[in-house]
Amino acid sequence: MARKLVISISGKGGTGKTTLTALLLKWLIQNTDEISLVVDADPATNLDDVLGVKLTRTVGQVSKDMKDQIEKGTLPPTTPKKDLLEAWVFQTLVEEERFDLLAMGRSEGEGCYCFVNNVLTHILDTLTKNYGVILMDMEAGLEHLSRRTDRDVDAMLVVTDPSRMGFETARRIKDLAEEVHIDVKKIYLVGNNFPQDMTDTLKKAADDIGVELAGSVPYDENVMSFNITGKPLLGIPDDSPAYRAVEHIAQKIGLSNLS
Ligand SMILES: Nc1ncnc2c1ncn2[C@@H]1O[C@H](COP(=O)(O)OP(=O)(O)O)[C@@H](O)[C@H]1O
Ligand SMILES: [Mg+2]
Repeated sequence: MARKLVISISGKGGTGKTTLTALLLKWLIQNTDEISLVVDADPATNLDDVLGVKLTRTVGQVSKDMKDQIEKGTLPPTTPKKDLLEAWVFQTLVEEERFDLLAMGRSEGEGCYCFVNNVLTHILDTLTKNYGVILMDMEAGLEHLSRRTDRDVDAMLVVTDPSRMGFETARRIKDLAEEVHIDVKKIYLVGNNFPQDMTDTLKKAADDIGVELAGSVPYDENVMSFNITGKPLLGIPDDSPAYRAVEHIAQKIGLSNLS
C-alpha cells in the first residue's frame, strides 16, 4: 500500500494544532479503513498524552545515542550503522490498532551530523510509504519550513486563534512555504476558538493571506474537560461541537475521498 495523503498542521503555539491533529485522527479512524501514521514533530512532544498512548523514546533521543556511540566508538562493528539507527527508530514507533505514532522529539547536540540526518531522512521516506495517511503535528512557528520537515505535503493546515499573532504567523507560514519552494499542494487556514459571529473576519483573513479557509473549530467544553482530566481526545463524543467542525474540515480537504 502506498501513502495516499500527507497532511501537516502548523501555526502559532497554543492555537490548537495538537487538538486538530487528534480530532482529524478520530475522523480517519471512524470514517476510513486507512492506517494512519501520526508524527509528533513538535519538540515539546505531547501528542502521545492527548491520544492516550504510551511513548517511551523519541527519534531525537535515539539519534543522540547514535551520535554519542559513534563518537565513543562503542557501536558493534558487525552491524552497519545505518541498519542500527533504522532499527532504533522503528523501536520508537507506538503501534496502535488504527494508527502508529512517531515522535521526533528534540534534535539534541546541534551542528550538522550529516550521517544521522541523511539516514533519518531516508528512514522517514521509507517508513511513510507504509501508511495510507500521514498526519504531522508540527512545531509552533516557522522553523519547520526552513528545516523542510513538511516538504512534500498534500495539504498544509495552518491553525490560527483569534489573535493578531495567530494571523501573522499564518501569513508568514504561507509566504515562507512559497519562498522555500517546498512541494505543498494546497495551504488552508483553520480557525480555532473563534466566536460564531467572527466567521466573516476569518474568511476575510484567509482571502487576505491568499489561502482557502478549511473551516472553523469552535471553543468546546468537552475538549477543555478532556484536556484537564487527561482523557484521550479520541474518545470525545461525536456530537461535540469541535468534532462536528472537524467533520466538515475533513470533507473540505478531501479526506472523504479515501477508501
Ligand atoms: N476548540 C477548543 N475548545 C476548547 N479547548 C481547546 C480548543 N482548542 C484547543 N483547546 C485547548 O487549548 C490548549 C492548546 O491547544 P493545543 O491543541 O495543545 O495547541 P497547540 O498544539 O497549537 O500548541 C489545550 O489545552 C487544548 O485542550
Ligand atoms: Mg501542540
